[in-house]
Amino acid sequence: MTQEALKYIKEKVDFQPELGIILGSGLGDFAKNIQDTIHLPFKDIPGFAGSTVKGHTGEFIFGDLFGKKVLAMNGRVHYYEGHPIEQVVLPVKVMADLGIKDLIVTNAAGGVNESFNPGDLMVITDHINFTGVNPLIGPNCDDKGPRFLDMSQAYCKKSIDLAKEVAKDLSIDLKEGVYMWFTGPSYETAAEVRLARTVGADAVGMSTVPEVIVAHHRGVRVLGLSLITNHATGVTDEPLSHEDVVLASKKAEGEFKALVEKIVQVMECI
Ligand code: HPA
Repeated sequence: MTQEALKYIKEKVDFQPELGIILGSGLGDFAKNIQDTIHLPFKDIPGFAGSTVKGHTGEFIFGDLFGKKVLAMNGRVHYYEGHPIEQVVLPVKVMADLGIKDLIVTNAAGGVNESFNPGDLMVITDHINFTGVNPLIGPNCDDKGPRFLDMSQAYCKKSIDLAKEVAKDLSIDLKEGVYMWFTGPSYETAAEVRLARTVGADAVGMSTVPEVIVAHHRGVRVLGLSLITNHATGVTDEPLSHEDVVLASKKAEGEFKALVEKIVQVMECI
């Protein structure tokens, strides 16, 4: 699957990206910063699944961002859309095989940590995957990465420190914490959120983890950033709605954009 996609892309664009960015909810607008762009809709790339989520257009954008050669994923494919996990992670495999050294993964998440509030930004220090789904299940591509992947540095410590420094410079109160993946599409129950908190999660969400596992497997450094759009179920009495999540991400996107922009400027993708 990866080879066909790579062949198609290489025929269309002569470009070796150094940095990949996955633009989740709250960063859709971010793509406007990218200069000299080439857009490739996912629906045109062999093997790719087009995103079915409203507000996630689903395309690769190649271009220049603050002097860096960037490949952005505008919108992503989620497991809950019903695609096999291989298709969910295919874009990240392709990004890695096109040569990115670093990947910035962004998402919207629910705050499990009771000190978090909607609008907070969180750098992901680690994740929990209790879904039973792992994109590395199946034959291992030994030329890409090891069968049994060490996950002690799945989120690059240096990149986390860089994000914290940048946030400090911008006077952003950047939280840090553990992201726990739930497949969705239903939001978590209050009991599931209590469980998440008990096992050490600070935020819950429906993406990111499969992408991070695959990027790390292929030796790409990962920085994960979450926009906390809501209190997770049960933290307050408020029911959850997708509309509220979208609204909250719109409100906080200015700060989120500023943080990611500055990180891109100072990150050394070598
Ligand atoms: N749970 C799961 N995914 C989410 C949430 C949440 O509370 N908020 C935004 N994405």
